[in-house]
Amino acid sequence: MLENRRILLIVAGGIAAVKVPDLIRRLRERGASVRCILTKGGSQFVTPLTLAALSGDKCYQDLFSLTDEAEMGHIRLSREADIILVAPATADIMAKMVMGQADDLATTALLATDKPVMIAPSMNVMMWTHPATQSNLQILKTREVRVVGPSAGDLACGEVGNGRMAEVPEIIAALTRFFQKSAGQGPLTGFRALVTSGPTHEPIDPVRYIANRSSGKQGHAVATALAELGASVTLIAGPTNEPDPDGVKIIHVETAKQMMKACTESLPAEIVICAAAVADWNVESAGGQKIKKESGKTPALKLAENPDILATLAQPGPSRPSLVIGFAAETENLIENAQLKRAKKNCDWIVANDVSPGSGAFGGDNNTVHLVTADGVESWPTLQKRAVAERLAERISAFVERNL
Ligand code: PMT
Repeated sequence: MLENRRILLIVAGGIAAVKVPDLIRRLRERGASVRCILTKGGSQFVTPLTLAALSGDKCYQDLFSLTDEAEMGHIRLSREADIILVAPATADIMAKMVMGQADDLATTALLATDKPVMIAPSMNVMMWTHPATQSNLQILKTREVRVVGPSAGDLACGEVGNGRMAEVPEIIAALTRFFQKSAGQGPLTGFRALVTSGPTHEPIDPVRYIANRSSGKQGHAVATALAELGASVTLIAGPTNEPDPDGVKIIHVETAKQMMKACTESLPAEIVICAAAVADWNVESAGGQKIKKESGKTPALKLAENPDILATLAQPGPSRPSLVIGFAAETENLIENAQLKRAKKNCDWIVANDVSPGSGAFGGDNNTVHLVTADGVESWPTLQKRAVAERLAERISAFVERNL
């Protein structure tokens, strides 16, 4: 997908610029051509000579260089590319992009371009979470600027949190997805995926229900990531505030039984991912009338077990999907319990996540997960749920390529 693609790489002034030489190498290995613009700040971290040598092209730095303007004006530079990638994208360059500021070659090229733009943000966690940066991010997204990363972890400044530039393979995957999508195809084109997401609500009476803290962020992100790789996705969603993802068929349900029914009716599918936090029980004694509060009397709720959707879909048989993936939400003995759950529910892979208090997995934006398969356990760093979904979608694509 990257063969013969022309990438204009803008390297801004952040420590993550040290990853750029490797990024250029990997892009060129895949047949892409890379032309670099290095900002003044970027040149504090990586030299123009390194970028020129690795890209096999001149490294552009100066807006007012008469030679460059004669050879390759900033307008041509910004137009003779299939995509502009800003990596690392600092808080400063993001702010300038929002303002339409054009005070150096990089920002001028970004303003003058008619080509898609992707940014790989990288900065200190406080800078990243600052309302100014977050508001700039939203504005850039509304202008269709693609965003890859950042991820959470140790930052060069010594602090810990969100702000690490996406790793080189993630940036390459994001570019690949972009070109696949623009070509109207992806590695999962022709495959059907069924995804469950969000909580279920189990009525106690017409106004009360039993629920859990699942927001649907993780399951919805999985559905989006699979659709971006070309899969035809049906998302069965419990009650959430998440917007319906683009390019996905969505079925809204409330209870576990409704989710079960929607899932079985949506088969056949080659791929199933159960990310929903399905209530294990429903209220058998739920009635049609609101339970009245009577002083001195506490109503007893009689619970009945809900159907296990994952275990049902993973049952052996001719119509079993080829790849059935569950999530395991655990508060202790994470891996061991996830392995037991994988065996008990007969699913192929299980994504184990620690949901103990303080983990933020339920409802938060990040997830720390371990992919448990028959081959072993792969532990991933703390990632935004979108990045977890993209990694999982890549692993699914690799499985599909090898086995289907
Ligand atoms: O929605 P978010 O706020 O983004 O949070 C994401 C998440 C924490 C909910 C998600 O990452 C997650 O862990 N989902 C699974 C939650 C869960 O119910 O885990 P479990 O260990 O109880 O269930 C194991 C598996 O069986 C899950 O795949 C679940 O979907 C499935 N299951 C469980 C019960 C049931 N009756 N039917 C099922 O299909």
